[in-house]
Amino acid sequence: MIKIAPSILSADFAALADDIARVEAGGADQLHVDVMDGRFVPNITIGPVVVAAIRKRTRLPLDVHLMIVEPERYLAEFVGAGADIVTVHAEACPHLERTLARTRELGARAGVALNPATPPGVLEYVLDDLDVVLVMSVNPGFGGQAFLPAAYPKIRQLRSLLGGRAVEVSVDGGVNLENARRLAGAGASVLVSGSAIFGAPDPAAMLKQMRTAAEAP
Ligand code: DX5
Ligand code: ZN
Repeated sequence: MIKIAPSILSADFAALADDIARVEAGGADQLHVDVMDGRFVPNITIGPVVVAAIRKRTRLPLDVHLMIVEPERYLAEFVGAGADIVTVHAEACPHLERTLARTRELGARAGVALNPATPPGVLEYVLDDLDVVLVMSVNPGFGGQAFLPAAYPKIRQLRSLLGGRAVEVSVDGGVNLENARRLAGAGASVLVSGSAIFGAPDPAAMLKQMRTAAEAP
């Protein structure tokens, strides 16, 4: 079964609780929270204070995507704020194994995100230290960018690298009704979607349509 994770980057930040309630009622499986520092990516978004505020308003697992340099410095803060999954970028972590082990020690699930130009092979020696791989299908930093189709072969390659391991393969960037089915077919188990869901007139209905599309035979 495919999981749908609405990305709140495209929600109304001044009415965040309402937007979250809408997708939670619509059957979202988890909530994707984009943390950007203006250094790893050009944009700046939110920090642990906002994650803690969201935690109080929803029961959905929080999937916190750290697009920041030196993410290891903030693991405890984000887990303390209520993150269930903490995803760091491979490109930002010189000591990836240590960062993943620390995340698990803190009690969260450990994720690694790969930029479009980063090959799956960087994970070869940490396959048993991972709970989630987040395949970026845009260059991270902004919502609403066009999907990069190189994500399809990359997801397939990752699935073969992972063997039978129970690791989620999540895809993030430009995910919409048109590509949901092909992404699921390639081996994605979580679809992260921001603008396609929150930009729709009825985000809950769009979420359901996306799930139906992804699960179509
Ligand atoms: C991009 C973020 C994404 C973003 C996706 O850097 O990591 O999570 O919210 O937004 P859409 O679905 O609009 O591409
Ligand atoms: Zn993201």
